[in-house]
Amino acid sequence: MKVAVLGAAGGIGQALSLLLKTQLPAGSELALYDVAPVVPGVAVDLSHIPTAVKVTGHGKDDLGDALSGCDVVLIPAGVPRKPGMDRSDLFNINAGIVKNLIEGVADHCPSACVGIITNPVNTTVAIAAETLKAKGVYDKNKLFGVTTLDVIRAETFVAELKGLDVSSVHVPVIGGHSGTTILPLLSQVEGVSFNDEEVASLTTRIQNAGTEVVEAKAGGGSATLSMGQAAARFCLSLVAAMQGENVVEYTYVQTDDSDDAAFFSHPVRLGANGVEEILPYGELSAFEQKAKDDMLEGLRGDIKIGVEFVNG
Ligand code: NAD
Ligand code: LMR
Repeated sequence: MKVAVLGAAGGIGQALSLLLKTQLPAGSELALYDVAPVVPGVAVDLSHIPTAVKVTGHGKDDLGDALSGCDVVLIPAGVPRKPGMDRSDLFNINAGIVKNLIEGVADHCPSACVGIITNPVNTTVAIAAETLKAKGVYDKNKLFGVTTLDVIRAETFVAELKGLDVSSVHVPVIGGHSGTTILPLLSQVEGVSFNDEEVASLTTRIQNAGTEVVEAKAGGGSATLSMGQAAARFCLSLVAAMQGENVVEYTYVQTDDSDDAAFFSHPVRLGANGVEEILPYGELSAFEQKAKDDMLEGLRGDIKIGVEFVNG
């Protein structure tokens, strides 16, 4: 397996690369790419950790070498939020970054599975899809918006509230990755019941958890360490599935379901070629159904902005 991290010198990139260096299967290769001049140093630093994962560092003009032969590409390149900003405020800078990097993917590893972390995810995934289509190499089964952070937050908050062992708590989170488009399905958490007040306050906390971190970091960026953990979980699940294991993760994929949005987080059975099967997310409570109905127009609008960015 060869995995590339694009934006590897950043807050997420470094945490993620550390976790992958220590947890990818033996014999894997980890290629670190960034425009920041420190990236070769990050690679040398990681290479001193004694695992059977080879690490290479690639600067600004070396995207081709980083990507060539890749099976999985993870993209956390771009700017993070500051207090007072929405994720959509990052569009002006991050849209072009994602488009350029995806053009590199199309040129150098068109069959790789790609996980987009860069915000606004609701829109950058659509940008990636349209860019790959323009290059004639789009495979909807190989493009993912990484929404795992919403899942691990939901699991943490539910376990805290109910005094449970977090390793036994599983919370489905569907929709997109911003504000009310993040929809935790608390009605489906096995063995746990919530009163109406708990559902309302937990849902809001999960939806605003990114902002909670942005405000706590007070201008120093957004979630990096928890996101590194979330992206590593997603990547390791994908790699395991590509090697034959049966794995399901919630992730933002093209659904072709006209009742929802063109991209929507679902439970997805992963496999050798990316998406093996998009699973149904099951029955919603009245609260969840209303929350979904209310957010769909916004999510569709976010996706449209991405499509128009590429196609004019
Ligand atoms: P950061 O500023 O710490 O790191 C970003 C890195 O990207 C920097 O090292 C920078 O040099 C690099 N970069 C910029 N342009 C590049 C390019 N063209 N090619 C390669 N590298 C480039 O930011 P961060 O905290 O790591 O966040 C990165 C992104 O991830 C932000 O957009 C943030 O909003 C997003 N994010 C997403 C989630 C999620 O759940 N999907 C969670 C947290 C953060
Ligand atoms: C998050 O959910 O933490 C990320 O999307 C970063 C942000 O801007 O909130």
